[in-house]
Amino acid sequence: MIFLVAFLVVFNLLAPQCHGACAEVDSLTEAVAGEGFLLGCISCKRREEVSAQSTVDWHFKPPGEEEFRHIFHYDHPSAEILHEDFSDRLEWRGTKTSDIQIGAIYILNVTFNDTGMFRCSINRTLFLPQYDENVLVEKEVELTVVAVADLSGEGHCQRKHTEERDLSRTVSQYFIRLCALLFVWLCESFTKRDKSQLPMFLQTLTCIPEIPFG
Ligand SMILES: *[C@@H]1O[C@H](CO)[C@@H](O)[C@H](O)[C@H]1NC(C)=O
Ligand SMILES: *[C@@H]1O[C@H](CO)[C@@H](O)[C@H](O)[C@H]1NC(C)=O
Ligand SMILES: *[C@@H]1O[C@H](CO)[C@@H](O)[C@H](O)[C@H]1NC(C)=O
Repeated sequence: MIFLVAFLVVFNLLAPQCHGACAEVDSLTEAVAGEGFLLGCISCKRREEVSAQSTVDWHFKPPGEEEFRHIFHYDHPSAEILHEDFSDRLEWRGTKTSDIQIGAIYILNVTFNDTGMFRCSINRTLFLPQYDENVLVEKEVELTVVAVADLSGEGHCQRKHTEERDLSRTVSQYFIRLCALLFVWLCESFTKRDKSQLPMFLQTLTCIPEIPFG
């Protein structure tokens, strides 16, 4: 029983954090000049069943400047572009109801002047049974604009390494889960048969996940 609990704890620690159907994925941060770019911003409701109403604001700060400029406001169903540098270049790509969990916007025709810090603010009012609760969630995205998709040289190598790291992390996570499962199963069958053999068995069991890639 203790092993089963331990296994469940390990399993839950390793499972990615998510709330129902909503998962908080970070935005990408590298855009290509002349192409479109999706600025991601996801804030999952802690309690899926509570209804809520939200507005979303986006601010932008170019490198070297102190102040953020207000560039976009969404209050379902109206979307407003508030800064001339972005006129006709921003589109709402978030939740299309007033109960917003995705506050993403799409930049059309990215220019090098879009390099800088973007800040997304989701202002959410939760309609709880006794009272309304106001929650403000802010996320920042530091955007870099490159001339063409960087597929050669250093950038490519770095990306490849990141992909390999992600893959090996996934593989080793599954390995840990498999080991935990094996551990529970073996321990249970040992305790059922002969308890005196258990310490020896524990000594021989080495469950260290190897990272399979360089
Ligand atoms: C993107 O910007 C360039 C230069 O400002 C312009 O020539 C082009 O028409 C724009 N394309 C779109 C799809 O807006
Ligand atoms: C970028 O910013 C510079 C300086 O503010 C300005 O002269 C230039 O026209 C801008 N370029 C675009 C494509 O908006
Ligand atoms: C969030 O929205 C509420 C209700 O619309 C408003 O009273 C409040 O000032 C807003 N907060 C911020 C930080 O914008």
